[in-house]
Amino acid sequence: MLGFFDSGLGGLAVLKEVEKAMPQYSYIYLGDNARTPYGSHSHDTIYKFTRQGVAYLFKKGAEVVILACNTASSSALRRIQQEFLPKYYPKNKVLGIIIPTAEEVISKTKTGEIGILATEATVHSFAYPKEITKMDESLRVHQQAGTLLVPIIEAGELDWDGLDSIIKKYLNELFERSKKIDTLVLACTHYALIEDKIRKHTPSKVQIISQGQIVAQKLKEYLERHPEIESRLKKSNRRDFYSTEDSWRVRNLFKLFYGRPVEIKKISLE
Ligand code: DGL
Repeated sequence: MLGFFDSGLGGLAVLKEVEKAMPQYSYIYLGDNARTPYGSHSHDTIYKFTRQGVAYLFKKGAEVVILACNTASSSALRRIQQEFLPKYYPKNKVLGIIIPTAEEVISKTKTGEIGILATEATVHSFAYPKEITKMDESLRVHQQAGTLLVPIIEAGELDWDGLDSIIKKYLNELFERSKKIDTLVLACTHYALIEDKIRKHTPSKVQIISQGQIVAQKLKEYLERHPEIESRLKKSNRRDFYSTEDSWRVRNLFKLFYGRPVEIKKISLE
């Protein structure tokens, strides 16, 4: 099975695109909604939460887990790959979404100036500037934290007027730093869920990069390159959804963001 992990709802936007590209596989999704947002926590806490989520997905039968979360990818992926997997799950894989996104972004910018809208933890990890300039050191990366966006999305307050003002404030701060930014990365999977509102406050000449389709394409290529992993994946078209929270709010938001009602099984990661 292919496992998807996020701090909450954002990974659903990624899962939807991956399923569209590869409907034959069985998918298992885990959102840690009870402990979201991750983005304002320390890297150590994010590592601990992410490791617990990944271990849960492995126990449920996932062979490969995609961290459909930039915060977890930037704060926890390396430690999971270097310390946790070799010791406990040497045959399994955990993949992040930052390098695939960075590869795509560098092929898109014309001015060489890129804007990153992400959580505080992702911004402070400098994962995007590091990966992007490793691939091309002439590129300039401008980062902006969208600190309040994930809590508002997880609260389901999408129609609240304040959301527009907050998006506008963050984007103004970012675009004031450079008029040459031509590519904006929604470097938090939750932000894909409010992409239309972000578009409204983004200069029209700026292209917006959202991660769902990029991850779908890169994952497909990864499985083609690794038949030894691909052959272990179940192709029974099954979908399982787990969350650490099962309030009416979480159930409604899963339905809204996944596009249809799903049965959510409540679990605990503690
Ligand atoms: N969806 C996560 C990401 O891509 C962020 C969420 C959070 O702050 O919990 O960064």
